[in-house]
Amino acid sequence: MNISSATVLHFSGTGTTEKYAKAFAKALPFPATIHEISKRKDAGSLDLSLGADELLVLAFPVYAGFAPAFIWDCLENVAGSSTPAVILAVYGARNYDNALLEAHTKLSAKGFATVGAAALVARHSIIQSIAPDRPNAADLEEAASFARTIAERLDGMGSIADALTFEFKGEAGTGSAPGMVPQVSEDCILCGACAASCPVEAIPYDEPNTTNAEACISCLRCIDVCPMDARSLPAQLLEGIGGMLSQVADPAKKNELF
Ligand SMILES: Cc1cc2nc3c(=O)[nH]c(=O)nc-3n(C[C@H](O)[C@H](O)[C@H](O)COP(=O)(O)O)c2cc1C
Repeated sequence: MNISSATVLHFSGTGTTEKYAKAFAKALPFPATIHEISKRKDAGSLDLSLGADELLVLAFPVYAGFAPAFIWDCLENVAGSSTPAVILAVYGARNYDNALLEAHTKLSAKGFATVGAAALVARHSIIQSIAPDRPNAADLEEAASFARTIAERLDGMGSIADALTFEFKGEAGTGSAPGMVPQVSEDCILCGACAASCPVEAIPYDEPNTTNAEACISCLRCIDVCPMDARSLPAQLLEGIGGMLSQVADPAKKNELF
């Protein structure tokens, strides 16, 4: 198959998915356009119709075993027409559970055919002491090398009918909002950095020390960008999640490429 260009759509709450998506995009032997998936009004809506000679790359973090639910709303007007797609699911060293199966199923209903997928390990965005330095240089090189493998795979295909058949683990379904809403301490100086970066506009500019709990998707970007460290998850919640993850997360986990 002759591929003319790639469209890379990524959502990345705290930056690790973005690193993987960019390393992958950069190594593709055809031009790639990168868009952030966002519900912000200033980002505009994604309206894309991709053909059979284009490649879609969808990259997202795994939240409770699924893709962040809001991305599917944002992708409502993204459609393929026998368009090859690659899925990159980035997870915090516990498990990616249903995420590849979910994305594969949903993209296929939109006219995309999966030609490759990866479950990639990164720092856990809730407990950042888990796999703190991933993706490391070797991870990013692995993502780049996977992009070259995908390009060769596409090259070897006469048409999309030659795509491999994938059987991803897990159960079909859709994630729900995790419901972990950051709290704000008195150190908040109302600078609005969090409001300016929230991907779902859950933080009002005029009251950045508050959060609309219904809109919040728990991506934790607001905690990351706060210059005063005034935003955090409740200590008790962190203790519970940290305890659970210390039993089940493995920072040395290998990336899985399909
Ligand atoms: C709400 C939430 C739920 C998460 N659920 C999982 C999970 O089910 N399995 C896992 O291994 N990591 C999980 N993580 C960790 C993220 O998938 C991981 O840190 C990822 O690298 C975050 O990507 P980002 O830096 O692009 O936001 C979760 C993180 C958040 C914030």
